[in-house]
Amino acid sequence: MNDGDETLAGRRFGPLGTALVIIPTYNEAENIKKIVDRVRKAVPDAHILVADDNSPDGTGKLADELAAVDDHVQVLHRKGKEGLGAAYLAGFRWGLDNGYGVLVEMDADGSHQPEELPRLLTALKGADLVLGSRWVPGGRVVNWPKSREFISRGGSLYSRVLLDVPIRDVTGGYRAFRRETLEGLGLDEVASQGYCFQVDLARRAIKAGYHVVEVPITFVERELGDSKMSRDILVEALWRVTTWGVGERVGKVLGRDKKA
Ligand code: GDD
Ligand code: MN
Repeated sequence: MNDGDETLAGRRFGPLGTALVIIPTYNEAENIKKIVDRVRKAVPDAHILVADDNSPDGTGKLADELAAVDDHVQVLHRKGKEGLGAAYLAGFRWGLDNGYGVLVEMDADGSHQPEELPRLLTALKGADLVLGSRWVPGGRVVNWPKSREFISRGGSLYSRVLLDVPIRDVTGGYRAFRRETLEGLGLDEVASQGYCFQVDLARRAIKAGYHVVEVPITFVERELGDSKMSRDILVEALWRVTTWGVGERVGKVLGRDKKA
């Protein structure tokens, strides 16, 4: 618990409730069983929702086979590839509708180590949102090419400065939300499809005044399958972050900002 943290003065955090680990998948046939097994072992009480976008490689069918023999595993089948953001939004809605108290984001490829999840959940006892962070002391990345590290660090720095959010790893995808936090973020208005979805939710959480905590993680680059990072995803992130940042600045100049 974060008892000594001044920003928590007067705040009481309720019990966490059951966690749902949402794993979005697109062509992760080589990874899906391994990641489900690891989550089940690392956090036996948690449930898992695989959100598959009708992967051509049969990931959805493999997930069905895992769900058939384990009542902690469920599968959300979606029509086709609509991006990481859309898959998470559908997964969040499913989890909220089904009464889960904590919703976790985790990649299928092993980059987010399930063995680190207990640390994220412990931090969530004193927070509204916990971000697994590569760029705080103690956090790191294993096996990433320098070019990818440059894009990620640059993206976080650009977002942090432009959007004025005090977060080191704004684009990371290993996160734990309390259900009340998600309910307060205005998910119906989120239009981000690709990886900028992560920046979008982080900025919404900060602007809404939620207590957001970064916990160091070791991000391990995938060994099997391919990253879905693309030029389109980068372009969407760049224009959306820039639009949000400019919009906020214009709002401030016009005196419409809520607080000084
Ligand atoms: N359902 C669905 N639909 N899943 C998707 C889609 C999609 O359109 N695109 C990607 N995914 C799934 C992948 O199958 C994987 O489980 C997870 O989302 C992350 O995709 P990767 O392609 O492995 O992402 P990455 O390693 O390049 O990027 C990671 O780091 C980024 C920040 O640097 C992710 O954690 C991103 O969320 C993060 O923004
Ligand atoms: Mn990955």
